[in-house]
Amino acid sequence: MKAITSLAALVLGASLGGAALGQTATTEQAPPADAGAGAAAAVSGNAAANEQPAEDGADAAAQDSAATEMAEGQTTLPNGTDITPDYEENGRWYTVDGIPTYKIDEDGTVDFATFNGYRRYSAECHVCHGPDGEGSTYAPALKESVLRMDYYDFQQVVASGKQEVNASQNQVMPAFGTNKNVWCYIDDIYAYLLARGTDALPRGRPAKKGPKTDAFAEQEDSCMSM
Ligand code: HEC
Repeated sequence: MKAITSLAALVLGASLGGAALGQTATTEQAPPADAGAGAAAAVSGNAAANEQPAEDGADAAAQDSAATEMAEGQTTLPNGTDITPDYEENGRWYTVDGIPTYKIDEDGTVDFATFNGYRRYSAECHVCHGPDGEGSTYAPALKESVLRMDYYDFQQVVASGKQEVNASQNQVMPAFGTNKNVWCYIDDIYAYLLARGTDALPRGRPAKKGPKTDAFAEQEDSCMSM
């Protein structure tokens, strides 16, 4: 039920305006003191999960139950996409529609690709988009973006970049289509952000990760040497 509550909070948050939610997220540890009552309620649903450090105990148990519900196929994004893992290919999990997704076991073990997504995000995206997909004053919270955008739109922006230029702002999202450290791991970054967006994964470095499979290593080698 936790997962559903969180999603409801996200939907509520989105309907109250992504800006308000994004803003609050950028302030990281600070409570959403000056947010409207509705927005504060919506954000607190997320904050409860987000503030958890990667530790065991009651909080981890709560995460586990959320992860279990995901695995049982109850996870549908606000945009209608079912992100239940269906099959594994090259050491990565995909939905029945071939969209990258995450797989988190009942004991909290994160699949290797999603863990790798955390590492790649932290190396290449964090500097502008903030830690853990939370957003910054400069760039949007990608954990929210992936709930709204579809996978192909996400890929398109990362490959080609995006530039918002108007009177009040001049922000640039660089093009990463030729950067192998991003492009060879784009599915992993996406899966990681999905796990963050659905609160299946708490903030910080995932505590337990699955093994790197031979299939993953082979695909990685061939992509990096192209
Ligand atoms: C140099 C700073 C910078 C870096 C590094 C960066 N981004 Fe961005 N990104 C931005 C800015 C700024 C925007 C907003 C651009 C706009 O709205 O026109 C953005 C927008 C996006 C969007 C669209 C989000 C939305 O809600 O519309 C996606 C997706 C995205 N970035 C993914 C990534 C990923 C993945 C990485 C790491 C591989 C990354 N970005 C690294 C600055 C950056």
